[in-house]
Amino acid sequence: MKAVKMYQFGGPEVLKYEDADMPVPGPDELLVKVSAASINPIDWKYRQGHIPNMKRTFPTIIGWDVSGVVVETGRLVTQFTKGDPIFARIETTESGAYAEYVVVRAAEAAYAPKSISLATAAAIPLAGMTAWAGLFEVGKLRAGMSLLIHGGSGGVGTFAVQLAKYAGAHVIATTSTTNIELVRSLGADEVIDYTKEDFSTKVHDLDFVFDTIAGDTQAKSWGLIKKDGMLVSTLGIDEKAAAANGVRGKHFMLQSNGARLQEMGGLVDAGHLKVIIDKEYPLSETAAAHAESEKGHTKGKIILTTGA
Ligand SMILES: NC(=O)c1ccc[n+]([C@@H]2O[C@H](COP(=O)([O-])OP(=O)(O)OC[C@H]3O[C@@H](n4cnc5c(N)ncnc54)[C@H](OP(=O)(O)O)[C@@H]3O)[C@@H](O)[C@H]2O)c1
Repeated sequence: MKAVKMYQFGGPEVLKYEDADMPVPGPDELLVKVSAASINPIDWKYRQGHIPNMKRTFPTIIGWDVSGVVVETGRLVTQFTKGDPIFARIETTESGAYAEYVVVRAAEAAYAPKSISLATAAAIPLAGMTAWAGLFEVGKLRAGMSLLIHGGSGGVGTFAVQLAKYAGAHVIATTSTTNIELVRSLGADEVIDYTKEDFSTKVHDLDFVFDTIAGDTQAKSWGLIKKDGMLVSTLGIDEKAAAANGVRGKHFMLQSNGARLQEMGGLVDAGHLKVIIDKEYPLSETAAAHAESEKGHTKGKIILTTGA
């Protein structure tokens, strides 16, 4: 099979499209013929050598989001059979989703939504489940709460805006000028253009801030939250700032969950969740896709397609 291998840390040029050995599924795993993978910022943060606790042996194949068709099942797998279209956020070892075939643990997989293309489904798992986990599992968002989402046009943000609106929150989101209409169309009640306005002068008494940006954006958010409110971040929190402002702050790391993903697929098929694809690259052009994602202005998601 063809795959994108990494032999060292570095720029996008360390990603090499070449022949690779077929991965072999274990007893509780599926072998999947990949339709698409998607790019997440963790992909290029790892490639740059910035995730030291993620130990892998070079050459390695990265990629955590996948959609495709099951071509083989391990002997303990009962839920899926050959020919099933699935999507998953995989816990890769050395053989990730930037490949024509990948091994997926059955517990991480879900049937792909029927109302979108199989390739598009690859954009959902990591970003979509992160939005879900941050809002509802870590943050306990409830109907009627006022919520500020930083980065409403990104991979996580486009799902977060829609899920929060669906849950009945009052959704305020930040983005830049070109993405205002997109974020509004996803259901945001108010959109703040961070390139023209200082959000900290526009909102106050928030129940919840969902932060996918960090830095100054997070620093300016603490004082906007009600005393019993909270800030949930995908990127780490400043605990001193949380304590100084008398609010709760939580950082979390996404855990894969096939059942949760199945629920999200259901929301897509029911018309409650749109998947925004910014750009699509063939797998052979993964380096260019990384360079694009690293600019930090992806509108929704970037996917890598195999042509299968
Ligand atoms: N902890 C976890 O488990 C976990 C899971 C997923 C992601 N993450 C992290 O969460 C972060 C977001 O992930 P992602 O996939 O959503 O990234 P992404 O898709 O690359 O985010 C890009 C978006 O950020 C927006 N943006 C950039 N600067 C902004 C600012 N100052 N204010 C508001 N919006 C701004 C951009 O909008 P404009 O183009 O309009 O500027 C763009 O649409 C990443 O750092 C990622 O590593 C963590």
